[in-house]
Amino acid sequence: MQGNQTRPTQLLACPAPAKLNLFLHIVGRRTDGYHLLQSVFQLIDRCDYLDFSVRDDGVIQRLNEVQGVPAEQDLVIRAAKLLQTYSSSQLGADIKLTKQLPMGGGLGGGSSDAATTLLALNHLWNCQLSRQELMALGLKLGADVPFFLCGTNAFVEGIGELIQTITTKEQWFVIIEPGVHVPTPSIFSAKELTRDTKVVRITDFPDATNATWKNDLQAVACTLHGEIKDAIDWLSQFELSAGLASAKMTGSGSCVFCSFDDEDSAKKICAQVPKQWKSWVAKSLQQHPMNTWLQN
Ligand code: C5P
Repeated sequence: MQGNQTRPTQLLACPAPAKLNLFLHIVGRRTDGYHLLQSVFQLIDRCDYLDFSVRDDGVIQRLNEVQGVPAEQDLVIRAAKLLQTYSSSQLGADIKLTKQLPMGGGLGGGSSDAATTLLALNHLWNCQLSRQELMALGLKLGADVPFFLCGTNAFVEGIGELIQTITTKEQWFVIIEPGVHVPTPSIFSAKELTRDTKVVRITDFPDATNATWKNDLQAVACTLHGEIKDAIDWLSQFELSAGLASAKMTGSGSCVFCSFDDEDSAKKICAQVPKQWKSWVAKSLQQHPMNTWLQN
C-alpha cells in the first residue's frame, strides 16, 4: 500500500496453512546440535487462522488462551515482539488465534502461526521488510518458519534456511492424528537416529515418486510412540488396492498421511479410519494463501 491510501488497522482470519514433509532426510548435525536435513515441504489447505488489531500503545497480547503455553514461549507473541524490536515500531497488536492444527503433530502449526504473524504485522505496522528480511527473522523463531515465508512449496536444506522453490503435483492427502503429541527435540536427540547419510540431489526428485520418499525421523518416532506405528500400519493396508503412495509420518510426528490423485479416493479411505483417531482430507496448495502480501 502506497501514497495517501489509508492502511487498515485490522486484519481478520489470516490463514496459517499446515505443511507435510513429503520427504525428510537427515544428512548431518551442526556443532550447536541442530540437524542438517533435506526435505520436500508441501503446503496444504488445512489452516490455523489469526485476527490482528493494531494498538497505539505498543502492547502485544493474545486475546485467547493458549493451552498450557506460557506467553514467553508462545511463537505468535515472540514473532510479534521480534518484529516490533527489529523494526523499532511503536505500535502493538491484539491477536486472536483460532487453532485447527494440532500441537506436536509435525504439521508446522506453530511455525506457520509465527510466519503469518510476521507477514500480517509487517503490513499493518508498515514495516516494509522484504521477504528475505522476514525469513531471516523467522529463522530466529524456528527452523521451519522461513519455509512458511517463502511463499511456495520447496526443497529445503541446511536446518531449514536454504530454500529452493519446487512445483509439486496436485494431490489429496488423508491425514491421521494418532492422538500423541511429539516434542520435536525428543525425536532429533534420540541416540538411535541415523545422522550421517548420503546427500541427495534435487535433480533426483522429478523422476521419483512419493512412494520412494522416506522420512528418516519415522523409525525413531515409531519406536518411542507405538501409536504412530499403528496409524502407519493401518494406512499401509490400502497401499496396493488403492494404488497409494506409501503412508508416512510428517516432520517429527505425530501425524501420518498418504497421498491420492483424486479427492473421492481420499474421502473413501478417510471415512474408514478407526474412530479413535482424528482424520481429515487435505488438498495440496501451490502457494501460501498470503504469498501476494510480499512482492520481493
Ligand atoms: O527450530 P525448532 O524450534 O522448530 O526446533 C525444535 C528443536 O528440534 C531444536 O531445538 C532441535 O533440538 C531440533 N531440531 C534439530 N534440527 C533441525 C530442526 C530442529 O535438531 N533442523
